[in-house]
Amino acid sequence: MSKKIIITIDGWSSTGKSTLAKQLAKELGYVYIDSGAMYRAITLYFLRNHIDWTDVNEVNAALKDIVIEFQFNEKSQQSEIILNGENVEYVIRDLVVAEKVSDVATIKEIRSFAVAQQQKMGEKKGIVMDGRDIGTTVFPDAELKIFMTADSAVRVERRFKELYEKNPNITIEEVKNNLEMRDYIDSHREVSPLRKAEDAIELDNTHLTMEEQLGIALKFAKKLV
Ligand code: DC
Repeated sequence: MSKKIIITIDGWSSTGKSTLAKQLAKELGYVYIDSGAMYRAITLYFLRNHIDWTDVNEVNAALKDIVIEFQFNEKSQQSEIILNGENVEYVIRDLVVAEKVSDVATIKEIRSFAVAQQQKMGEKKGIVMDGRDIGTTVFPDAELKIFMTADSAVRVERRFKELYEKNPNITIEEVKNNLEMRDYIDSHREVSPLRKAEDAIELDNTHLTMEEQLGIALKFAKKLV
């Protein structure tokens, strides 16, 4: 039997972390967890319930009412996020959520809430998790850590295409501004800022196809499993 490991994929916004993470998990028969979806779901809950995330008492009270689960959808063959019983996998991708999620993710109490659940999900290993602090904070002892980068123009273009399919009114400027803002906040916050773990492998996919990047990552993974 092969050994089960933990694979972390961190990096800048829209570098294709989740695409790679999903494919790797599928190839290895591992569970895939999108940690960003958790921060997005919390943000959605806060926006809907008008929670002031700068007020620690409000935050702590609200977190008690939030239950986040992941459920595998046979039809889409993907794991989807469930917030208090509601499938929010698609609504959390809206720009309305994207505009606030980095701010919400700076809050210490919110990060502790999410990180505790993420660590629990990794207890049995056999997991690929993507995010910003997975290799540095959530699983500092993970067997394989990947840090993804890509040229910013390429990242903007990729995210624009994705969002445009759902909302043809969106402009490239809006997408660019949002990515720049999130990268800045994510890498400058006090608690677990985005940074490459010292032992992470850097993967720049500006000029790579999805197959090529999967091939590289799989090669590293197969040496360890
Ligand atoms: O991966 P994503 O773009 O869906 O993540 C949304 C936001 O959530 C991102 O801008 C910062 C935050 N995030 C985080 O702070 N830590 C993580 N592990 C994952 C995401």
